[in-house]
Amino acid sequence: MKFLITGGLGFMGSNMIRYVLNTYQDCSILNLDKMTYAANPKNLKDVSNNSRYRFMKGDVADEDLIEKVFGEFDPDIVLNYAAESHVDRSIMDPKAFLVTAALGTYTLLEATRAYKTPRFIQISTDEVFGSIEQGSFTETSCFEPNSPYSAAKAGGDLLCRAYIKTYNLPIIVTHSCNFIGPYQYPEKVIPLFITNLLEGKKVPLYGDGKNVREWIYTEDHCRAIDALMQKGVVGEVYNIGTGQEIQNIDLTKKILTLLGKGEEMIEPVKDRPAHDRRYSIDSSKLRALGWKSEYSLDQALEKTIKWYQTHEDWWKPLKSGEYLEYYNTQYQRQ
Ligand code: TYD
Repeated sequence: MKFLITGGLGFMGSNMIRYVLNTYQDCSILNLDKMTYAANPKNLKDVSNNSRYRFMKGDVADEDLIEKVFGEFDPDIVLNYAAESHVDRSIMDPKAFLVTAALGTYTLLEATRAYKTPRFIQISTDEVFGSIEQGSFTETSCFEPNSPYSAAKAGGDLLCRAYIKTYNLPIIVTHSCNFIGPYQYPEKVIPLFITNLLEGKKVPLYGDGKNVREWIYTEDHCRAIDALMQKGVVGEVYNIGTGQEIQNIDLTKKILTLLGKGEEMIEPVKDRPAHDRRYSIDSSKLRALGWKSEYSLDQALEKTIKWYQTHEDWWKPLKSGEYLEYYNTQYQRQ
């Protein structure tokens, strides 16, 4: 089985590549990644010499390249992980988000159509639905994205819908809740807070800290995608969530406790513009296929903190140079 995995040097893409290599002994993987700031060859150092794995640098929005990749590699399945993913960066500079999530998805879909690729799985987010005060979004809820990031992702997902309806392409679209796990770039709240605390720095909590997110451990998400590869119905949309919701302030307190720090390390800062209050998705459609999450949020936090504690060589270089420039610009708004 030939897998084209896009964005495979990023956080979730790299976790999935490792998962596929461990799970499918007969697989052959082509990892196509643009190598933006968030891509990191170190994420896959342990598999880089594996004969079933190959890396290619390239942009999913590059039509000539994508045509060549599909022509030569002829994948059996595309897992589209390629995306700019940080909401705050999208607020400062939306264009790159649109190019990868919307134009990139279009380019991949066109190639899928031309080469009659048997399966395409779109990795997307619950953020396309916008914010929900009570209850949970289902797969048929309206898209009401509030950030350039989620609007760009919604664009890609709507193109998937159109290609299912118009060209009958074998696509499955997934909307996932927030990820927690190893190899996440330390700009996202959990790795940012863990690494700040490991460096003796405070943690910048947006607004009143009462925004709610639902969290899934990386491995549980990989198994969810696997379940959809096995049993998902093409043309359908699936939410991937755990029901493990928590306010940012309570999440922060858990991290502080696990690292033996006090609440004086919390620095309340100005809120993010259009900051979605709460995300919550109903994942019963996926559960009906037999999948369930195995890691509680507490277990996921413990594992993740341990990973960052023992992988300083991975994250320390990421918190200098370009990152620091971004981080300082970001906090000028406070
Ligand atoms: P983030 O990890 O950026 O994911 P998303 O915005 O896609 O959900 O943020 C998760 C939550 O944490 C979100 O409500 C914003 C908040 N947050 C902070 O309070 N401080 C921070 O420095 C960051 C990056 C996020």
